[in-house]
Amino acid sequence: MTRAPAFTARAPSKLILLGEHAVVYGHPAVAVPLGEPFAQATARLVGPGGPVGVELQDFGLAWLRGSEPSAEEARPFSRIVEICVASGMAPDNGWTLTVRSAVPIGCGLGSGAAVAAASFKAVYGLFGARRCDRELCSSVYEVEKLLHGTPSGVDNTVIAYGRPVLFRKGEAPTFLSGPGAPLFLAVADTGLRHKTAEVVAEVARLRSQAAALLDEAFRGIGALAREGAAAFEKGDLSALGRLMNEDHRLLRGIGVSAPDLERLVAAARKAGALGAKLCGAGRGGCMAALADSPEASLRLAEALLAAGAKHAFASQVSSPAFQKVRP
Ligand code: MEV
Repeated sequence: MTRAPAFTARAPSKLILLGEHAVVYGHPAVAVPLGEPFAQATARLVGPGGPVGVELQDFGLAWLRGSEPSAEEARPFSRIVEICVASGMAPDNGWTLTVRSAVPIGCGLGSGAAVAAASFKAVYGLFGARRCDRELCSSVYEVEKLLHGTPSGVDNTVIAYGRPVLFRKGEAPTFLSGPGAPLFLAVADTGLRHKTAEVVAEVARLRSQAAALLDEAFRGIGALAREGAAAFEKGDLSALGRLMNEDHRLLRGIGVSAPDLERLVAAARKAGALGAKLCGAGRGGCMAALADSPEASLRLAEALLAAGAKHAFASQVSSPAFQKVRP
């Protein structure tokens, strides 16, 4: 039996090292792709005339083009399929998309952008569509708008290009060289879920009541991101850690931390982290801690689990130069 032609693609998750929330208001942010956890999608031909369908393996859900998505989780995929068909990249019949993702949802790791990027890449691959990263980035942004209302664009950018970036809304992304030294990170999940759009809307409400205060915090966060981009490229880990701590302090000040995040950030610092902060929209989700060695990042992950994290893992961000010298 011959198998139908298929194409499988992956997309990374992401971590904002510095700059969440302020980035929505035009300030810069530093974000890095994470190879793990990742999202994966397979586009498959099923014969001409058959309906276009999407299977979401993590949810045991399926959706057929032409029907109203009955579950919230399927809505982004109806948008992805329409973008693929409307742009002429894929026909309006005879193919399916199967998606699975290890990126936890509502956690600050860019799950929505990761599944969208993997899906588009799988469709490009199946139909031989030649699309550059910039086009992938803008297609993923369309899906992000559906998910998050008014996203800054940082998630789709770092995930579509798969490169560390100094991102500023409305400007071409500045890709960072390096990192100048491998970043060993521990990432921990509070287990609390948030909706990015709701947290962003709450921050906007607060800003409408206390503009001067919020804008001062955003300017401070933006300055940390600019400084952090230079520290990242130089490999100045202690500077980067200090900036992450300061960033967390400012984020706490605008009300997006949570008791569980505070507990994990404190535990990471006590266990020797160079810096620790919440990641993404906050109010729950993940935090990240910077370590100076792979062993230290594993120790931090253990300390975070002991402090009540639902999940914790060690991760590494390396430049291609470091990857070459590793066996
Ligand atoms: C979400 O990953 C980061 C936020 O800054 C929102 C955004 O940039 O759109 C909270």
